Parts: sequence; structure tokens; C-alpha cells
Amino acid sequence: MSKKEKWFLGLLSFALLFTGFAQMPIFKRYYLADIPGFAWTADYYLNHRLHYLLAFILLFYLFYKVVTFFSSFQLKNLTFLGWLKVFLWGGIVFTGMLRVLKNFPQVVFDYKTVMYVDWIHLGLPFLLFIFFILGKVAGISYLRK
Ligand code: HEM
Repeated sequence: MSKKEKWFLGLLSFALLFTGFAQMPIFKRYYLADIPGFAWTADYYLNHRLHYLLAFILLFYLFYKVVTFFSSFQLKNLTFLGWLKVFLWGGIVFTGMLRVLKNFPQVVFDYKTVMYVDWIHLGLPFLLFIFFILGKVAGISYLRK
């Protein structure tokens, strides 16, 4: 992965995390929104739409990665860490999609499902970050050379 691509994915993931938290809404509660220039962080609908836009960009990027991986037969070179990342990204997208579905008035999930989907959607990005750091510290790549 090129340095540019790493920066793109890192900034996109941070922006998704930030707009995700802004929907909870914690930035008013913890006074970030009171800092001049940060009032928008307490605007639920603005951050909700931003999160959807960023999620769309992420879906396009992940689709491009999947297609290039399959077309270059790289799948067999994925290490255990590589497969872990595939499942974590898959879980983030799947729970994100379920949350999008939940927002349709016609779609009703029981509260336990909503709670678990929410926890998984919240927890997986952190797991992804922990495995990214572990991979860096242990020098494990997600692709066999
Ligand atoms: C790195 C990727 C992502 C991160 C870090 C992330 C993070 C978050 C966080 C922290 C929340 C707030 C959770 C809460 O309300 O308790 C959230 C909500 C949400 N996310 Fe994501 N998300 C990501 C990707 C996606 C994707 C790909 C989708 C759609 C396919 C998505 C759709 C949603 C939706 C619909 C909500 C709920 C908004 C609401 O109804 O309040 N997210 N996300």
C-alpha cells in the first residue's frame, strides 16, 4: 500500500470515527462544540450526512481493493493479520449497513439487535486500530512477500 493510500485510509477512518462520535452526541457534552469554530460538531444532522458521505467513499475504496485483490490473485498471499483486517472491515460495513436500514421508518429491529449492532459498529474500528498498531510493533504485514 502506497504512503498516499495509507494517509487516505487513515484520514477517512478518523473522519468516520469523528462524525460517528458527533452523532452520539458527545461533543456538546464534553464542551468541544463550545470552542470557537467547533459548533458544527454538535450538529447531529450535519454529522449524520457527513458520516453517510464518508461511508460511501469508504465503500467505493473497499470495493476497489476487493476487485484489485481478486484480479491480481493476491488472496492466497493474505496473512492471518490480513484476513483479520478483511473480517473487521467487513463487520464495520455490515453493521453500518444494518444501521442505515434501521433508520428507515419501515424497518424495525428489536432493541437488543440495535444495541449489539451499535456496540459492534463502535467496537470494530478500535479493534482494527489495535491490530494495525500490533502489526506495526511486531512488524507483521498483512501480505506474504
Ligand atoms: C471506519 C469506519 C467507521 C467508523 C469508525 C464508524 C463509526 C461510527 C460511530 C462511532 C457511530 C456512532 C455510534 C452510536 O451512535 O453509538 C456510527 C454510527 C453510524 N454509522 Fe458508522 N462508522 C464507520 C463506517 C460506517 C459505514 C461504512 C457505514 C455505512 C455503510 C456507517 C453507518 C453508520 C450509521 C447509519 C450510524 C448511525 C447513525 C444514527 O442513526 O445515529 N458507518 N459510526
